[in-house]
Order: sequence, then structure tokens, then C-alpha cells
Amino acid sequence: MNIIVTGGAGFIGSNFVFHMLNKYPDYRIVCLDCLTYAGNLSTLEPVMDNPNFRFVKESITDREAVYKLFEEEHPDMVVNFAAESHVDRSIENPEVFLDTNIKGTAVLMDACRKYGIKRYHQVSTDEVYGDLPLDRPDLFFTEETPIHTSSPYSSSKAGADLLVLAYHRTYGLPVTISRCSNNYGPYHFPEKLIPLMIANALNDKPLPVYGEGLNVRDWLYVEDHCKAIDLIIHNGRVGEVYNVGGHNEKTNIEIVKIICKELGKPESLITHVEDRKGHDMRYAIDPTKIHNELGWLPETKFEDGIKKTIQWYLDNKEWWETIISGEYQNYYEKMYANREEI
Ligand code: NAD
Ligand code: TYD
Repeated sequence: MNIIVTGGAGFIGSNFVFHMLNKYPDYRIVCLDCLTYAGNLSTLEPVMDNPNFRFVKESITDREAVYKLFEEEHPDMVVNFAAESHVDRSIENPEVFLDTNIKGTAVLMDACRKYGIKRYHQVSTDEVYGDLPLDRPDLFFTEETPIHTSSPYSSSKAGADLLVLAYHRTYGLPVTISRCSNNYGPYHFPEKLIPLMIANALNDKPLPVYGEGLNVRDWLYVEDHCKAIDLIIHNGRVGEVYNVGGHNEKTNIEIVKIICKELGKPESLITHVEDRKGHDMRYAIDPTKIHNELGWLPETKFEDGIKKTIQWYLDNKEWWETIISGEYQNYYEKMYANREEI
């Protein structure tokens, strides 16, 4: 089996590359990633010499480069993680989200049509369903929940999902889609809530919680997401969407307090800052379909996963310190300097 994994130098993609090379020693994994600010080649260092692995630095929006890669590799499957993934950046500058997340997806699927493929898998997000109200804990996102997006990021992911389903219906492309809740774990880029709070707390810097911090996210350990995708690409039904989530809802403020406690840092580091525009209140996944059809269940409890994650950031300071000492400084200044403390 030859699988092209796009976005494999990012957070979830790299964890998926490791999972697949480890579990399927006879598979060839080709990572296609153009190394944006979020892609990091040093993350893939441990597998660079693996004869079953190849890294290709190209963009999924570059049709010529993508077609050339298909001619060289004749992939059996494509798993598309490549995306602009940060909501706050999408609020500042939506355009690149449309290019990568929508047009890039179309280019990949055109290549699949042209050269043939056993499976095209789109890694999507629960954010395509919009949000749920805080006072209705009985409500969850199912695969039938209408698409109803809030941010340019989630809209671009929803656009891509619709295109994937259209390629299935119109051209018969054998597709699957997974819509997962918020992931956490090793190699998570430090602009996102959990790694940002860990890095700031370790540096005794303020912990910027948007608004009151009562927004709820449904956290899943990244390895459990990788296992779900592994199941879907092998056993999932073509043309289907599978929601992935582990019933682990927490408010942002709870998460930040847990991180303070685990690191022995004072909660006085927490600062409430101006809220995100259009901020989604609550995400919560109903994973019944993937459980019933494919037997998937999350394996890592949050209490264990967050400890493992914090330990990883303590053991791999060089990885994130290199990131936050570079261009990231400018980003942080720009994004947080203007957020008034409230
Ligand atoms: P990430 O930002 O950490 O990594 C994205 C990767 O894609 C980077 O390596 C980047 O270099 C690469 N990339 C970006 N544009 C590219 C392009 N034009 N061509 C080739 N490569 C490109 O993202 P992540 O958090 O690992 O998310 C991966 C996927 O999972 C995304 O599609 C995201 O929408 C989805 N997702 C993420 C979460 C989450 O909690 N992080 C949850 C559900 C779904
Ligand atoms: P994030 O990790 O950006 O993921 P997403 O927006 O895709 O869910 O943010 C998770 C939650 O944390 C979200 O409600 C916004 C909030 N948040 C903060 O309060 N402060 C921060 O500095 C960041 C990055 C996020």
C-alpha cells in the first residue's frame, strides 16, 4: 500500500505518519507538505531515514507538482491533512485558507480522478457544524447536523467537505471524511490553546484566556484521532462522513487551571483578554456511528493524556523553543498586544 499523507509535517499529520509507519511496516508513506509556518521538518527527523518514507516539499495547490508526484508514486490512497488550521489567523487573513483548504483539496482530488485511487480521505473538523449552546448539554453533533459555520477557517473546511462529497456523487471518487473534535498531544503548534498555555506557563508569562473562558471544547488525544482515521481508510464506507470525538468536554478556563496545577504555576498568571470575534461556544461530538460501524473508542483518558502531553513539552523544549523564538514572536506580538485585558 502506498499512501500520500499531505500536511505530514504538522501536528496531527506527523503523528499519523509515525502511527502508520509503526503499525504497517510494509506500507510506503509519502509526505507531501510545503512547510508553512506550521510545518516543521525536524518533527519528521525520526523517520527521514526510514526506507518506507519519503518527504516531498510541495504545495497541494500546485497542480503540476501534485500530478508529477502521482505519476512517480501511483498512490493507493491520499489522506489530506494539509490545511491552514488556526481560527485566529483565518480571522486576520482568510484568503490563504480558501487557497489551501478548498483549492488544494480540489487539486488533490483532480489528481485522484486523473490517475485513479482506492481512497481519498479528507481530514475535517467538527467546526463545520458551528457551535452548540451552553445551556443544552443534551445536544451533540451527529453526522446529520447541518453545516453551519462561524469562522473563515471552518467555512473553508466546510467548503472542502462539500466539494469532496460532490466529487463522490459526480465522478464516483471513492472518498471518506472524518470530522474530529479538538486534538491535543505531542507536536501541537504553540499558537493553539494547550501548547500555548504550557509554553507561557513554563516561561512565567501571562496566560491569555479569551473572554470569560467558558467556551467548551471536546478534547481528544491525537493518537486516538490517528487510530480513527486508520480504521476509516481501511474499513469505512465510501461516501460516508464519520464524526470522531471522545466525550471529553471542558471549558477553556478548566484546561488552563489544570495546566497551572500540573506545572505548579500560580493561577494568578491567568489574564482574561478580549474575546475572539464570532467565538464558538461549545463543540461536542456524538461518536456513535464510528463506534457502531468500526468499533472505534478513544483509549487515552484526558487525565492521562494531558500529563503525557505536558511531559512531552518538558522533554522537548528545544522543539517548541525554536518555534517561539523565531517568526512566531511577531505573530504573538501582533495577535496579543492588541487584546485588551478585561
Ligand atoms: P497544522 O497547522 O499543525 O499542520 C498543517 C500542515 O499542513 C503543516 O505541516 C503545513 O506545512 C501543511 N500545509 C499547509 N498548507 C499546505 C499546502 N498548501 N500544501 C502542503 N502542505 C501544507 O494542522 P493540524 O492541527 O495538524 O491539522 C491537520 C488537519 O486536521 C487540518 O486539515 C485540520 O483542519 C484538521 N483538524 C484539526 C484539528 C485540531 O484540533 N488541530 C481537529 C480536527 C481537524
Ligand atoms: P484553539 O486551540 O485555537 O482551537 P479552536 O479555536 O479551533 O477550537 O482554541 C481553543 C479554545 O481556546 C477556543 O475557545 C479559543 C480559546 N483560546 C484562548 O482562550 N486563548 C488563546 O490564547 C487561544 C489560542 C485560544
